[in-house]
Amino acid sequence: MIIQVENPVVEVHDLTVSYDRKPVLWGIDLTLPAGSLVGVIGPNGAGKSTLIKAMMDLLPAGSGYVRIFDKPIAEVRNRISYVPQRESVDWDFPASVFDVVLMGSYGKLGLFKRPRQADKDAAMDALQKVGMQSFANRQISQLSGGQQQRVFLARALAQNADIYFMDEPFAGVDIATETAIIELLRTMREQGKTVIVVHHDLQSATEYFDWVVLLNMRLVASGPADQVLTQQLLEQTYGGKLTVLTKVGELLRKQEFPARES
Ligand SMILES: Nc1ncnc2c1ncn2[C@@H]1O[C@H](COP(=O)(O)OP(=O)(O)OP(=O)(O)O)[C@@H](O)[C@H]1O
Ligand SMILES: [Mg+2]
Repeated sequence: MIIQVENPVVEVHDLTVSYDRKPVLWGIDLTLPAGSLVGVIGPNGAGKSTLIKAMMDLLPAGSGYVRIFDKPIAEVRNRISYVPQRESVDWDFPASVFDVVLMGSYGKLGLFKRPRQADKDAAMDALQKVGMQSFANRQISQLSGGQQQRVFLARALAQNADIYFMDEPFAGVDIATETAIIELLRTMREQGKTVIVVHHDLQSATEYFDWVVLLNMRLVASGPADQVLTQQLLEQTYGGKLTVLTKVGELLRKQEFPARES
């Protein structure tokens, strides 16, 4: 089940990515629709983080290519924002919460530009959206994991990009924060932005995403969430080994998929 779209916001063609000559992604071909919430789902080590890094050209492709907005990444870099997986970030660097977010908004202006009042306002606004404004002057290293995650989200929001890549933004956040974040992502979608989210929870995936990419080193599926999140395709993705999948399958079967606009 690999559905291609016309006028895609992201086009991945025959992408292979290796670390130390060992391929971890093989021949990925997919297109993603603009203005959608996309979930990238698969087991640990499936290559989800690798795929979104390769989509942003942060990792060299062994073969194949990626185009965003029908252009090479280098030409659209300032329209792209990235929230890395929390474990991959060194949280000990000395910077305040406010500075981390501010770097998001004026970073794209270039190294030597000083932030203007508008950038500072955008940073504060983004912090407010994730409920972290009262932590603005705190060192980033002194926050809890979930709070750090929210600050990184605020940083991405302050960038005001057109396409967002988020690597497990819900990992380690509480349920209230998760609900607040998904509301934010929906608002962004309404503004026509595309948000690509690496996600682990299969149950909420049916509710959160319009489009789902199932990955396990190879592309298992890419298409509308209700067509992709099936027992059979999930078993293909997870190898059918996990008994928990049976339970998820039952849940999925019982669940009415809400109708979505494309
Ligand atoms: N820098 C690296 N050098 C060598 N191998 C790597 C590197 N980064 C990732 N890998 C390997 O590539 C494969 C895919 O890793 P990746 O981080 O993309 O998986 P993932 O789907 O994001 O997993 P997780 O759910 O645990 O975050 C794994 O086997 C991993 O060990
Ligand atoms: Mg990962």
